Amino acid sequence: MSGVYEFVSLLLFCHLMPLLLAAACPPLLSCGDLGNISFPFTTTERPDCGFLPIRNCEDPLKFKMIQLQNNGEWFRVVLVAQLRNSSIITFQIRDKHLYDLLQNESCEAFRYNYTIPPFFHFAALRIQYHTSLFRCKRSLHVSPPTGMLNYTKCPDYDLYYKHIITADDVSRSSLAACTEVQLPIKDVPDAINPFTFVTADIIIRVDLTDECADCNYRHGGQCKLDSTETFCCVNGILQQKP
Ligand SMILES: *[C@@H]1O[C@H](CO)[C@@H](O)[C@H](O)[C@H]1NC(C)=O
Ligand SMILES: *[C@@H]1O[C@H](CO)[C@@H](O)[C@H](O)[C@H]1NC(C)=O
Ligand SMILES: *[C@@H]1O[C@H](CO)[C@@H](O)[C@H](O)[C@H]1NC(C)=O
Ligand SMILES: *[C@@H]1O[C@H](CO)[C@@H](O)[C@H](O)[C@H]1NC(C)=O
Ligand SMILES: *[C@@H]1O[C@H](CO)[C@@H](O)[C@H](O)[C@H]1NC(C)=O
Repeated sequence: MSGVYEFVSLLLFCHLMPLLLAAACPPLLSCGDLGNISFPFTTTERPDCGFLPIRNCEDPLKFKMIQLQNNGEWFRVVLVAQLRNSSIITFQIRDKHLYDLLQNESCEAFRYNYTIPPFFHFAALRIQYHTSLFRCKRSLHVSPPTGMLNYTKCPDYDLYYKHIITADDVSRSSLAACTEVQLPIKDVPDAINPFTFVTADIIIRVDLTDECADCNYRHGGQCKLDSTETFCCVNGILQQKP
């Protein structure tokens, strides 16, 4: 009786999915010094078990690496923080190039604009702590907005920033001619030297869609797209049968 019910459920979840995909994914995968990882993370050896595969999990001598977009750059993963059965998921990566620029106090660092492409079907990724900095050509002679700090040691532009800058902040009007960049931070951006609060160790938060969280945490399944690009939950209920 229950066997029939479960089989029907699977078909409803995923009627166009080849049943071949129903090879069970282990609830935890070991990934060297990152410890045990679970969905949405996986290892590159098991790309079917998550959408954030980590490379070199089995090689203790190599950094663990992740890609944030297809064919994109590989970043070193420093930390994965996951609570079991919870959709609170964060991980930390290091951008080596930005790291080197910050170590050198190179103003090239402020040419970065950090945004994460929203290419994931089952989750939104965002940088947990970041701020806006305004890069203003010195020749523009912008009048310093009240309450904003500046950094004037870059070759041909000055930087403006403040503790909290909202989308409708009045300071923005006097900075309209400047270039706004988003950068990850590790401290409140109120220091005299921005190299003390901008960071290359970036904490990224993953918010699973409700249907994917439900599939994974309630049904123990894998979030997939079927052949018509429709969400489907594979292998959930069937896997739990004795
Ligand atoms: C990883 O999981 C295994 C099996 O569940 C467990 O024995 C081990 O202690 C875990 N390791 C860590 C670092 O949590
Ligand atoms: C940082 O400075 C060192 C020594 O001046 C230099 O060799 C290196 O190329 C610089 N790195 C970057 C990323 O600018
Ligand atoms: C930088 O800030 C200081 C202190 O608020 C101010 O006196 C100075 O005019 C500012 N410099 C620029 C270039 O905005
Ligand atoms: C940086 O990204 C933000 C947000 O996507 C955008 O508003 C801004 O124009 C970008 N700046 C540059 C210099 O590309
Ligand atoms: C996670 O949720 C599943 C399904 O509800 C349950 O079987 C399992 O015991 C839970 N694990 C933990 C650690 O809470």
